[in-house]
Parts: sequence; structure tokens; C-alpha cells
Amino acid sequence: MLRDEDLLEKYARDESGLGRFPPEAAVLCETAGEVREVLAWARAERVPVTPRGTGTGMTGGALAVHGGIVLSTERMTKVLEVDEDDGVAVVEPGVITGVLQDEVESRGLFYPPDPASLASCSLGGNVAENAGGPRAMKYGVTREYVLGLDVALMGGEHFRCGRRTVKGVTGYDVTALLVGSEGTLGVCTAITLKLLPKPAGVATLLALFPSAVQAGEAVTAILRRGERPRCLELMDRVAIDHVRPKNPFKIPEGTGAALIVELDGEPTGLEASLLGCAQACERSGAHEVLVAEDEKHRRDLWTTRRNVSPALKEAHRRKIAEDIAVPRGKIPAMIARAQQIGSRHKLLTAVFGHAGDGNLHVNFLDDGDTAPDVMEAALHDLFRATLDVGGTLSGEHGIGIAKHRYLSWEQSAQLIDLQRRLKRALDPDDLLNPGKIFPPR
Ligand code: MLT
Ligand code: ZN
Repeated sequence: MLRDEDLLEKYARDESGLGRFPPEAAVLCETAGEVREVLAWARAERVPVTPRGTGTGMTGGALAVHGGIVLSTERMTKVLEVDEDDGVAVVEPGVITGVLQDEVESRGLFYPPDPASLASCSLGGNVAENAGGPRAMKYGVTREYVLGLDVALMGGEHFRCGRRTVKGVTGYDVTALLVGSEGTLGVCTAITLKLLPKPAGVATLLALFPSAVQAGEAVTAILRRGERPRCLELMDRVAIDHVRPKNPFKIPEGTGAALIVELDGEPTGLEASLLGCAQACERSGAHEVLVAEDEKHRRDLWTTRRNVSPALKEAHRRKIAEDIAVPRGKIPAMIARAQQIGSRHKLLTAVFGHAGDGNLHVNFLDDGDTAPDVMEAALHDLFRATLDVGGTLSGEHGIGIAKHRYLSWEQSAQLIDLQRRLKRALDPDDLLNPGKIFPPR
């Protein structure tokens, strides 16, 4: 257990940039038994507990906003099992996502969810937030891969839910309820994950456009052709200009937007699909289309894309990072709306992210000269516009404390109340990650 103020500093913040919330102590659990003991003790003593993976969350889920203790699973790093015949991996929650991916890929298997922070985020955090990533476009988010969970509740009670079979419909889907519950219902101590066969081939292209709206139109055109790339990632001019100086892939100056299109499957079919996607890009206004020539080229491109968010954060005092998702047919219109909202409020705005599944990262940037109510007004406009086109407030980052005051814009009072009742059934004293998801009463 850490109580030293300097050592605790690491547990006072996360990637959300939403402030400093030092806990009174951090407990770095190494076993499921220790997690249960901490939760039993904390309930008996009425101490709030904030579960934490590696702190890469974007909405404040790991911040101890009510004090108490942080329960970290970062030391629970064992890959307990990889079963090639069952197509299943069982892991402890502290396993780094990229580490599991490398491990299973060396055996010809594939774990698709790939959050941008995959080199540092943990699978326990991915489960809590139901993390996504570029490949969610074809393969879906973390939820699609969690077959079962070992879970400890506030008070120390524990159970296993789910299955390790391909099919299974026994009872309520408690596993699905826990995935994405942002650490408010229970703490997972082991995760059973579905694995796929590793795709035989991968092909990647980069298309450059005069504007982000044209790149958005290319997304629609690619999907309309019936192509199903595994990633369709957009970066607008602001994102590209921030990432250019320090990153390996230099997108030419003056580029209005870039689209990364990545396909996987049998190598024989890939070439025709790649050509189809390139043509769709050109017809939507791309002035240049480049195909990644080798693995290094491809990796450099992805490193550059993954560093958009850190580059924006480093360059500005404040960055409001949103992850709205809109129906596929509304992607170009939503890109235009997001840019208009930014200009109307005179805010430097970056639009990037997982355009293929409608999940856009709209970042409003401030260097200290913007009044807080201007940022707030831009956010209001963005959420209103998103909901107006049938979208949702969060495609992959969760609600946490970043968006809880907007939950009622999207969900009815009845639905919010039902979720509060579910929370009370598992955590009657509201001690597990209190203050998250639901608006303060
Ligand atoms: C990304 O896709 O780069 C991440 O979700 C991070 C972000 O949205 O800022
Ligand atoms: Zn993202």
C-alpha cells in the first residue's frame, strides 16, 4: 500500500486532463484474493474505492473524485492461458493490450481491439471502458471479445460469469453488463477473451484530400461499394500539422485531410479491394493515394496516427477531447458540423479518428485565452448536433466525469434510474467508483 504523497501523485491524475484528485492511499494488488480483501475491508470501513488499470482513460474513470483508495490492478500482469484449439485467452486485468496481441499473434491468433494507447493501456481498463480503436470498424469493440469475467464486488463477494464457448445464452448476460460499466459495478480479476485466426494479409493505403469533408465523403463511397476495410481513419489539417514535426511519417504540408484505409484477409482478394478503395478516394477528391510498401512504412503511418492525441495535448494548455459517434450515413455532414462549431466559437479544432464507424474525435483546443463558458458552449453545440443526427455522446471513451452532466441529453430519466438501481443492487452504499457516469444528484 502506498501512502507517501510523492508516490501517490501518479494515482492522482489520468490521461483525461480533468484535474488532480489525490487518493488517501493506493493499493497495488497482485492477486485476486488481495482485490477481494481490499473490497471487503473498504466496505466494512465505508471507504470509497476507485479501480484503476494503467490510467490511460480519457474521461476520468480512474480519478478518485471522492477520495478514499485507488485499487490498482497494474501488477496483475499474467497471461494465464492461451488455448489455440478453443481460440481463447485468459488474462489478469493488468496485462498490457499490445503485449497480449504480440503473444497471440506469435501463435497465429489475433486479438483485434486496438486502442491508440495499446502499448500502455491494460485489458482490465479496456474491459471497464469497453475500449475501441481503429479496427473496431470491422471487428467491433472490446465487448465483442469478452467471453467471461471473474469479478469481485464491493464487500469482497466474487463470482465468475460468462463462458468460454463460441455460443452460450444461459441466464442474463451479466458479462455484457459489466463490460463498459467503468469500474462502478465490480472489479474484474480475470478476463476470458475470444481470439480469431490472424488474418493472412494486410494492405494499407493513405489518401490525401484538400478537405476533411471530402475525406468523409470517401468513407461513404468506400462503404457504398461494399468494401469492408478493417480501419478507415481520418486526420484533418489541424491533426496532421500537430503530428508532423515529431513523427516518422511526414504527411505533406498543405494537406487538408488524410484517410488511412487498411484491409485484411486473403492476399489474393486484397489487391482488388485496395484498388476499389483507392478509386473511391480519387472520385471523392483525393489528390494523392499512396500504398504502404512494407511493414516499416505501415508502422510509421500508424505511429503517426496514434500520436495525434498526445501531440495535441503537448501543444496546448487545454484540450477537450470528445469521442462522439454518428450513424455512418451522417459522417461527412458531422465532420462539417464539428468544424463549423469550432469556427463559430473561434476555437482551434481538430477532427480525427475512426471515421469508418462514425466515431469522431473532435478536440477543442485552448492556450489559456478562451473563457471556460466558450468551451462549454462549443461542447453543448457539438453534443446537440450529434444527438440531432441520431448519434451518441461516446463511441469508445465512456462517460466518467467528463460527460455525466450530459447523460440525460441522450438517455431518458427512466433509463438512468434503471441503471442507478442496477448499481445499487451490486454496490448498495455507492462506494465503488462513486461519482462516475451518472449526474450528481
Ligand atoms: C485515439 O483514437 O487517438 C484515442 O482514442 C485518443 C483520443 O481520442 O484522443
Ligand atoms: Zn480513438
